[in-house]
Amino acid sequence: MGSRNDSKAKVDEGLLADVSRRAVAYLRQARDRRVAPPDSAVNDLRQLEISFPESSLSDQEVVEWLDRVGSPATVTTAGGRFYGFVNGGALPAAVAASWLVSAWDQNAALRVMSPAAAGFEDVALGWVREILRLPAGCGGAIVTGATMANVTGLAAARHALLANAGWDVERDGLFGAPPLTIIVGDEVHVSLLKALSLLGLGRERVHRVPVDGQGRMQVDALPPLNARSIICVQAGNVNTGAFDPAREICQRAREAAAWVHVDGAFGLWAAASPRYRHLTDGFEHADSWSLDGHKWPNVGYDCGVSLVRDPHHLRSAMATSAAAYFTVGEAREPSQFTPELSRRARGVELWAALRSLGRNGLAGLIERTCRHASRFAEGLRASGYEVLNDVVINQVLVSFGPPAFTRAVIERIQRDGTCWCGGTEWQGRPAMRISVSCWATTEDDVELSLAAIVRAADACRAQGSAP
Ligand SMILES: Cc1ncc(COP(=O)(O)O)c(C=O)c1O
Repeated sequence: MGSRNDSKAKVDEGLLADVSRRAVAYLRQARDRRVAPPDSAVNDLRQLEISFPESSLSDQEVVEWLDRVGSPATVTTAGGRFYGFVNGGALPAAVAASWLVSAWDQNAALRVMSPAAAGFEDVALGWVREILRLPAGCGGAIVTGATMANVTGLAAARHALLANAGWDVERDGLFGAPPLTIIVGDEVHVSLLKALSLLGLGRERVHRVPVDGQGRMQVDALPPLNARSIICVQAGNVNTGAFDPAREICQRAREAAAWVHVDGAFGLWAAASPRYRHLTDGFEHADSWSLDGHKWPNVGYDCGVSLVRDPHHLRSAMATSAAAYFTVGEAREPSQFTPELSRRARGVELWAALRSLGRNGLAGLIERTCRHASRFAEGLRASGYEVLNDVVINQVLVSFGPPAFTRAVIERIQRDGTCWCGGTEWQGRPAMRISVSCWATTEDDVELSLAAIVRAADACRAQGSAP
């Protein structure tokens, strides 16, 4: 072991100060930068394409490369005018926490590896349960995102229903297992289907329930349920933001001893707002829930949360065989509830984001972004463009007219760089999506972006749809 002074000498203060200075400069510019990177910056990434070098490079030069080649080719999600997908922007406390977490370099697998990681994770999970008004005893896991949260929750569902049928799926796999029926809405998110495919439950072997014009499951069209049915409901459709009628679905599921899994990636956070909480009514009666930290709460990438009403099902689904060198204590061991063993201390960043916001701040973030979305819808309608969804939360779907025209407008907006919106198809119609999910978006950003969108659409109209 080196002396205290030796290890102290290894801390390269200049390097960390340099990277801090560069990060601050990047974030300072974020408000004024174009949102999509210029083609020249993307082309410059080719400089990276060399064979693995023989020689080493100083740490300082490595950082210089990252900043010179990487920073210009990033999409400015931190600036407040990125409305693509459902991407937040990391809160200042989350960015700061991720720096410290990187410096700590903790493995959050076992409590003995990092009491700090386990402690922050316990509290952050408890707060998420409180926000959703779920029982304190619910099992929880912090994972990479809603896709893995869906895998985790559905693995617990698979365990529970098959165990009730006398089958040990973790030991024997699915070969010869009693069949399960998986029920999804017709507007199910692709990541949920991926989760089903990873679990051997089949992406296509699902019963799809028809939905209404907002993408909500039609309860009357539910198939008969039984103790081997898993119903996957959504809190927040990725396009419209709509919520499935959870209360009624959970009621029916309970009568049939079926399992309800909630994909609540972003929408379930509406429970944090007194104004929007009613939309999440009934979801608390489900059996498992998935959420993203990196969406509405603006934790940095990556962060997802899986909650399961009965922690035993989660723990059984995630159990590893015993290994003599695992030191397992009395308290909750993080990796006994997650798919991974070694893992980043994501709970610290989730804790930091939630602690910096507090109840009022989280509610304010939800309400402010919803207000911005309403303003987009109102402004677009006033300019003669069609809003296709009921803007219930932070999602707006707009059609600019015929399919090719709408696509041309989206391309023009992305090239313009004032803001960034992506395309989608909503029930057969091409549309543009506006998802206001970033804490940094201001009213000025919305007005600037609205003007850019209308300018692009009007210009396409004037040119007869050529982008
Ligand atoms: C409803 C829904 N579920 C799941 C996901 C997947 O989330 P992630 O990309 O964090 O895995 C998304 C992403 O937008 C989503 O909107």
